[in-house]
Amino acid sequence: MSEPVPVPEKLPSSDEDAADLTYFAFAKPADAFRDVMSFQARVIKLQDVLVGRYRIERLLGAGGMSVVYRARDLLHEQFGDRETYVALKMLGEELANSQDAGALLYSEFALTRRLRHPNVVRLHTFEVDTRCRQAFITMELMSGLTLDKVLCDQPLGLPWPALRDVALPLLDALVHAHSRGVLHGDLKPSNVMCGEEGVRLFDFGLGQAEECIMPGLPKLSRRRFNAWTPGYAAPELLEGQPLTAAADIYAVGCVLYELACGKHPFRRWLSTRARDEQMDRELRAPRHLPKHCWPALRAALSFDEAQRTITAQELYDAINTQPSWLRRWLALNQAR
Ligand SMILES: Nc1ncnc2c1ncn2[C@@H]1O[C@H](COP(=O)(O)OP(=O)(O)O)[C@@H](O)[C@H]1O
Ligand SMILES: [Mg+2]
Repeated sequence: MSEPVPVPEKLPSSDEDAADLTYFAFAKPADAFRDVMSFQARVIKLQDVLVGRYRIERLLGAGGMSVVYRARDLLHEQFGDRETYVALKMLGEELANSQDAGALLYSEFALTRRLRHPNVVRLHTFEVDTRCRQAFITMELMSGLTLDKVLCDQPLGLPWPALRDVALPLLDALVHAHSRGVLHGDLKPSNVMCGEEGVRLFDFGLGQAEECIMPGLPKLSRRRFNAWTPGYAAPELLEGQPLTAAADIYAVGCVLYELACGKHPFRRWLSTRARDEQMDRELRAPRHLPKHCWPALRAALSFDEAQRTITAQELYDAINTQPSWLRRWLALNQAR
């Protein structure tokens, strides 16, 4: 007999934890919105086989919106393939029955599929199990630790070489996403995996396409649907402005700062509160970040969107650049 899947403890135990959760607010539908999947989803159990193919094996994780399971692909197994593990992402019970649920999950699928990059999670398919009434995404099974767990192990932050090894691929993934017109919308340590296969940016569940890209995709109006992660959402997002690349830059700036010293730049406060309390005045270069990278990171952390003009590529370049003393030293030694 199959056992019920353990329900993850979602309630935050402290303000710090709460600042890392994605919050959702669905207003009552005011106008006609395409009802993509208006049915009651059945709770998934361990050992369930979805669409006659994916056997649910264990819970991998849960965020503010979804649950992710490890599953075996029984079809591939029939052909003797032994590497048949995949990850299945579906909406959590609370959201699964909301009116926008199907559109939300499909939007994540469609946006992520636009991206082909070694540091972005690879998605396979979007499926609906009609028996369980569950929509889900199938994707590569990532291994490793998310950056929030890495930070628990390294409370003082990562030393520069390790920091660089995480920062550059993460920024490269963001450069790629922005160049494809995809905005992430929920960049934070728990949405970045670090493992043997390198760094992977994932969870584009709050992502959006820039204007004119993917016009057929259901638009999730922010008037009806609002979601944010307090410690990483830029002030303009909290004030109801649309998601832009600049908001992703603020979030990635917070992540990089945290990686470089183990502490969030603004104690994970809401950015609007941090701005009103002028917390940026006390901001100092984090201990593990070389001085030449600080102006770029400082610019990414601007509360004012108009001043946060630095791009993901410029941030990448700043971190990738050797400091001038090292360039001089290398030039001297190579000349000898
Ligand atoms: N492809 C995957 N492989 C392994 N674990 C995953 C995968 N995708 C997500 N997870 C785990 O599940 C957790 C929740 O996934 P996420 O996509 O962030 O959901 P949410 O949208 O609810 O935040 C992640 O923090 C991670 O631990
Ligand atoms: Mg997440």
